[in-house]
Amino acid sequence: MPFVRVKPDDMSQVTAVASIEEAARQVDDPDAFPPIAEMMAAQMRYGWDLDAPEHYLYIPEDALEPVGSLVLDLPTRDNLHLVWVGIVVHPDHRRHGHGSVIMKEAFRLAREAGRNTIWIGTAEDDQGARRFVERFGFDYASHDARRRQVLTEVDQIEIQRLWAMAEAAASDYCLERLQPPIPDQVLSELVEVTAAINDAPMGDLTFEDEKFDLQRLRDRETAARGRGDRVYRVIARHRYTDEVGGHTVVLTHPLQPHVGGQGDTAVSRHHRGHRLGLLLKIDMMRWLAEVEPQLEIIETWNNVDNSFMINVNEALGYRLSRIFNMYELRLD
Ligand SMILES: CC(C)(COP(=O)(O)OP(=O)(O)OC[C@H]1O[C@@H](n2cnc3c(N)ncnc32)[C@H](O)[C@@H]1OP(=O)(O)O)[C@@H](O)C(=O)NCCC(=O)NCCS
Repeated sequence: MPFVRVKPDDMSQVTAVASIEEAARQVDDPDAFPPIAEMMAAQMRYGWDLDAPEHYLYIPEDALEPVGSLVLDLPTRDNLHLVWVGIVVHPDHRRHGHGSVIMKEAFRLAREAGRNTIWIGTAEDDQGARRFVERFGFDYASHDARRRQVLTEVDQIEIQRLWAMAEAAASDYCLERLQPPIPDQVLSELVEVTAAINDAPMGDLTFEDEKFDLQRLRDRETAARGRGDRVYRVIARHRYTDEVGGHTVVLTHPLQPHVGGQGDTAVSRHHRGHRLGLLLKIDMMRWLAEVEPQLEIIETWNNVDNSFMINVNEALGYRLSRIFNMYELRLD
């Protein structure tokens, strides 16, 4: 069999995936951060909420080592029609049909898992990858932007001005900073605001609302602990009803100490219009400056059409790094 399912405990396999990804990164996306095998292994083991993705190495019969990798992300709590596929062929081995063999295996595995919809992402300006996916019948469905905030370049005077404006608009709210372990009672309060992420635009992708409950939030906590992430969350609580109106989350990792990853920022519908997004994110910046002073960059991903979130991010000094397209194929 040319495909080997990667075991997260087998560091030689994980390292093989990381080295293919690193070779590809240097050619396809040099601005991306280099993969770190230990972090990949933890992601393979725990995923984002204990729904770990499946990874495969592709070793053609005549080859001595893997030339490509495949990852399948199969949601288990909702979106049971869907599989999110990633394919990478080592730059030294492209245009020999390997990508096509991997794609066919992805189709086979998707069918075997009872999924009829496949998503695949490529850089918007990568015409080769676009031709590759269109050859298999994928259609363009959406686009996401990667932005970065370089912390030393942030205009602190502008941040002060924005803070004053947001604070005035959000006078009915108080901020709380949360770090794991978060007790179940507080996690329960976070279910609704976590589900508010379902209002983010998704283009023409076939996607149903994600389902959130206490168990899923517990599983997210467990997964983050397993991955070794440090999780920072700021919430905005309404002073009179005690409801959690909004939250923002940033993750850092000791093996990549200069980079923070922006997780969800969401405000529940009936708490919108009070500049909570801005307030939450500025408080997060201040908190991180105290507790993670070595941080240099925060990276965030937004749908290109998510103007509300992008306006907040641009105001805070996030700048566009690259746009990625998402393509969709219905198998039947
Ligand atoms: C996209 C990718 C997977 C293709 O892998 P590959 O092994 O070169 O693909 P194949 O050899 O099977 O190509 C099949 C066909 O796709 C098209 N294609 C693939 N790469 C192309 C390129 N750079 N330019 C134009 N057409 C291309 C061609 O029609 C090709 O057939 P041909 O070589 O007979 O003309 C590889 O370039 C890659 O890993 N890119 C970076 C990661 C990425 O963007 N993955 C995409 C989905 S996650």
